[in-house]
Amino acid sequence: MRVKTGIYGLDVLIEGGFPEESTILLSGMPGTGKTIFCLQYIYKGLELGENGIYITLEEKPEELRREAKRFSWDLKKYENQKKLVIFDASARVGLPPTEKYFIEDLDIENLLNKIYDISLEIKAKRLVIDSLPPLFEKEEDIRSKIHKIGRILNEIDCTSIIVSETLEENRFSRFGVEEFIARGLITLHLEEIQSRLRMKECRRSIFVRKMRETKHKVRRYPFYIDENGINIDVKGELL
Ligand SMILES: Nc1ncnc2c1ncn2[C@@H]1O[C@H](COP(=O)(O)OP(=O)(O)O)[C@@H](O)[C@H]1O
Ligand SMILES: [Mg+2]
Repeated sequence: MRVKTGIYGLDVLIEGGFPEESTILLSGMPGTGKTIFCLQYIYKGLELGENGIYITLEEKPEELRREAKRFSWDLKKYENQKKLVIFDASARVGLPPTEKYFIEDLDIENLLNKIYDISLEIKAKRLVIDSLPPLFEKEEDIRSKIHKIGRILNEIDCTSIIVSETLEENRFSRFGVEEFIARGLITLHLEEIQSRLRMKECRRSIFVRKMRETKHKVRRYPFYIDENGINIDVKGELL
């Protein structure tokens, strides 16, 4: 069974979508489109009747709701219907919590227990963790923490995206261990190109580096972001 990604152009590249109940690692440098990718995945799932959990560790839920609105994705509507939970793990010290679902510290056990309960409560089919690095600020036992996350994601009925922000091109995980709990690995890129007018221009591209149970090409495809979200040019040439 395949889970439609909702990212225009992606499903035809990976035999119809992500393998059901798999975990996909999405990585890329800041500004490459990871958060938009995840919002689109969650929102398009909601439109298909698949409930979702969005665990946000970097941005406040209110920022996500506002960003999503730019693409006409009304998250609040689905939150009100108990089909979507935006879980606030952005843990800003000193600010009183304003969200229904939140944790104040980044205790992994606590976070995973809550995720587990919420997944049962709303019968979630899709889950996003955006992003992993804040969970590993204290650089101890990263490997065992990652494996704990992997175990919970295996137990719940969700097809999950975990985001890792990389700090240099050509790395696909921050800690070098995230990929071990993922059955798929997608990287997003933003590269400078020399245009004919000698102006600096950037080009976005997406690369499916690994997808178990799937025949996929190993090449980069250009994509763009417009008012509908992320759109991959599946016939596009990268020079
Ligand atoms: N409404 C929009 N239309 C087109 N491009 C956008 C829009 N909103 C954001 N972007 C582009 O997406 C980038 C941010 O994407 P985001 O998913 O937040 O990146 P990441 O999570 O990888 O840091 C912005 O820097 C901008 O280039
Ligand atoms: Mg982001």
